Amino acid sequence: MPSILIIDDEEPIAWGLRRAFEREKYRVGVAATAEDGLSQARKHAPDVVFLDVRLPGMDGLTALTELRKIAPSAAVVVMTAHGNLNTAVKAVEGGAFDYLAKPFDLAQAIDAAKRAITRIQGEPVTAAEVGSDDIDLSPDAIIGRSPAMQAVFKRIALVAPTNACVLITGESGTGKELVARAVHAHSTRRAKAFLPVHVAALNPNLVESELFGHTKGAFTGADKARDGLLTLADGGTVFLDELADIPLTVQAKLLRVLERQEVIPVGGGESQTVNVRIVSATHADLSAAVRDGTFRHDLFYRLNVYPIHLPPLRDRIDDIPALAEHFLRKFGVANPVEVLPAETRSFLKSRPWPGNVRELRNALEHAAIEARGGPLQPEHFPEPASASGPAGIADRLKSLVVEWVRERTGRGEGEPTELHQQLLDTVEPALFDEVLRQLDGNRLAAARWLGLARATVRKMIKKHHPAIDEPDDEG
Ligand SMILES: Nc1ncnc2c1ncn2[C@@H]1O[C@H](COP(=O)(O)OP(=O)(O)OP(=O)(O)O)[C@@H](O)[C@H]1O
Ligand SMILES: [Mg+2]
Repeated sequence: MPSILIIDDEEPIAWGLRRAFEREKYRVGVAATAEDGLSQARKHAPDVVFLDVRLPGMDGLTALTELRKIAPSAAVVVMTAHGNLNTAVKAVEGGAFDYLAKPFDLAQAIDAAKRAITRIQGEPVTAAEVGSDDIDLSPDAIIGRSPAMQAVFKRIALVAPTNACVLITGESGTGKELVARAVHAHSTRRAKAFLPVHVAALNPNLVESELFGHTKGAFTGADKARDGLLTLADGGTVFLDELADIPLTVQAKLLRVLERQEVIPVGGGESQTVNVRIVSATHADLSAAVRDGTFRHDLFYRLNVYPIHLPPLRDRIDDIPALAEHFLRKFGVANPVEVLPAETRSFLKSRPWPGNVRELRNALEHAAIEARGGPLQPEHFPEPASASGPAGIADRLKSLVVEWVRERTGRGEGEPTELHQQLLDTVEPALFDEVLRQLDGNRLAAARWLGLARATVRKMIKKHHPAIDEPDDEG
């Protein structure tokens, strides 16, 4: 019978986990403090420990170190409601088997327990949103409480200490470079260089010599030998940005570097051994480029050993207020929380951000100037980068629906009912009115535009405008 020890001072969580595990026929022990947990672990040598980070007395991460000594064979699953990148990194460094961000559901916990018992490491467990305390205040912090960003933190923490090539994907402005820097900063290479190479910005004729160096006289103007960026970054990390723009000839050479860890300067000569880790990024669809033949598939697989995808900001709008506070703090605003009234927060959450976090950052800088030290109001913000396009409006509509649902679930009036019908009743009249207006009330044409039967259109008009008699305008 596998045994599990739960160390958590939050009674409901400990209780819920205990019941779930007992149902799975595990032997379960519970401790409300790290000290008690450690003494139980010493006595019973559990197979798996579920360990909370915030505990009265000794904290969970310290307890993790102790546990590794007392019960080295136990798999430890760290649980926290206050996860940021540092917590994830510390948990992985401390030898945690898995990392669950609270609140998680019991199915996730059982899954983690099962994997821990059989020691199968799985896909990252995602976390749900938590409160906004415990924000990482460092200037290069990666802000994100959303499940999507918690998953990103976990992936950074897992891959950073290795030498694996990381490929970061995501739309422009989603934070790819920031993540690349974090991978380097949490690796053993952190004392050595992090060299970003903006491939797209390099002179196409010089890409090779920039990367690999050149010998004296290799080409006109090469009056002395020069080391390339890959040699300069020896022992450190090279960040290849805009990967999709690397010419095919350079791709072949790059592959050679990765496979043999050696560079041959332009103009020939001796190959030099280099020890670099490659982290790359692209906002283009590289697998499409592979299909089109503009990107070598062997290089793609070599660079894509460990992918990290950054979701667009519209898929993590709950992170927006914390991001906004973070940037205002960076711009020197002393009281970021106070200059962001509730109205502005929901405005920021509901408007589109086609330029993602970068656009948010720039918009806040703009608004902070306009507001002259006072509270930031919606009118202080510049127009969205391309809000007029259909994609912009569709995104706005989606965000509004999210807000609408939240408004209904957050009223504290118990469970909402008939959300679907209510939403339809809210938006349908506007849809019908506008289509009919544009078609001068022609119901036949409206049915065509709407893709609905004429009878349905008639019924909808009756429903939303019972006062309007039905004219037979369609002939
Ligand atoms: N999660 C985050 N927390 C804090 N700052 C962020 C976050 N994500 C992005 N930023 C900031 O937003 C700006 C844009 O990020 P970054 O340059 O990393 O984007 P990118 O994905 O590399 O974009 P591009 O594809 O256009 O190069 C930077 O100022 C970065 O510091
Ligand atoms: Mg970038």
